[in-house]
Amino acid sequence: PLYSSAASDVYKRQDSAREPRMTLRFRPLHPSFAAEASPVDLSTLTAADTLAEIRDGMHRYGVLVFRDQTLDDVTQLSFAERVDGELHAKTGAAALGGNRFGNEALVDISNVDERGDLLMTDDRRRHYGLANRLWHTDASFVEPPGRYSMLSARLVPPVGGDTEFADMRAAWDSLAPGMQSRLLPLQAHHSIAYSRETLGFEFSPAEAGRLRGVIQPLVRVNAVTGRHSLYLASHASRIVDWPLPEGRLLLRDLMEHATQPAFVYRHQWRTGDLVIWDNLATMHRATPFADGEHRRELRRVTTLDLPRG
Ligand code: OGA
Ligand code: MN
Repeated sequence: PLYSSAASDVYKRQDSAREPRMTLRFRPLHPSFAAEASPVDLSTLTAADTLAEIRDGMHRYGVLVFRDQTLDDVTQLSFAERVDGELHAKTGAAALGGNRFGNEALVDISNVDERGDLLMTDDRRRHYGLANRLWHTDASFVEPPGRYSMLSARLVPPVGGDTEFADMRAAWDSLAPGMQSRLLPLQAHHSIAYSRETLGFEFSPAEAGRLRGVIQPLVRVNAVTGRHSLYLASHASRIVDWPLPEGRLLLRDLMEHATQPAFVYRHQWRTGDLVIWDNLATMHRATPFADGEHRRELRRVTTLDLPRG
């Protein structure tokens, strides 16, 4: 049956001591991470036990897919707050002068302007968004960093525009112990200006001044599961206290290791999908589509890595 693979059965058993009434099931989409949740209407979901099951599912799978949602901007924002608390609003777009919604917590992941027309090939907003095709994790360039991202598909193109996810826990687990102990104490500087500049995007001095970035650990530990993950992104510009070339080479080698096909789940969007991912345990990237011909409209809300109240 669809929602009772071996992995989710194990999970249900572990979970049943604490959560006697399971209302959600998870069907794994990949051997090491990512699962599709059984039907649930997130726009009206307030039950504390079901919200807790979503958080538990996130700890286990890192990526959860919810099909056939009817979220609008208001219900997407309020669901994000119910499931994980405070929202990230210091986005790169905010530093560039804001988005068409006038709310920086609602990130515009689309290829249209304020009138709904396709962005022209040379539009600066399009160039900025193209950087989502570099492997990254959201909001690693602010402190506290982004925790969960929730991306809602309002309109998807007929072909292409999939999103790929990489399991950074599996990537960590597969490193040799000697490599792991070398990496554990390291820190990296992350800046959204850096990932854009690698594609040739230019910032004004005022914009660059608002995007200085932050220092992050290279390895994270999930406080609930105890699992380690590599914390990497195209935003990572250097290893703290290392010569630039050596640090950048290490970052490239690790990105290459972490994004091998075996660690990747590719999500094919349907209108109505809501996908939640843990930015502290995964990376993701957009893939191409005919963006001069078809509209692709998604909205993202990202929460901050703060203690849960
Ligand atoms: C994002 C993102 C990828 C995509 O929303 O953070 O990187 O496929 N999206 O649109
Ligand atoms: Mn992203």
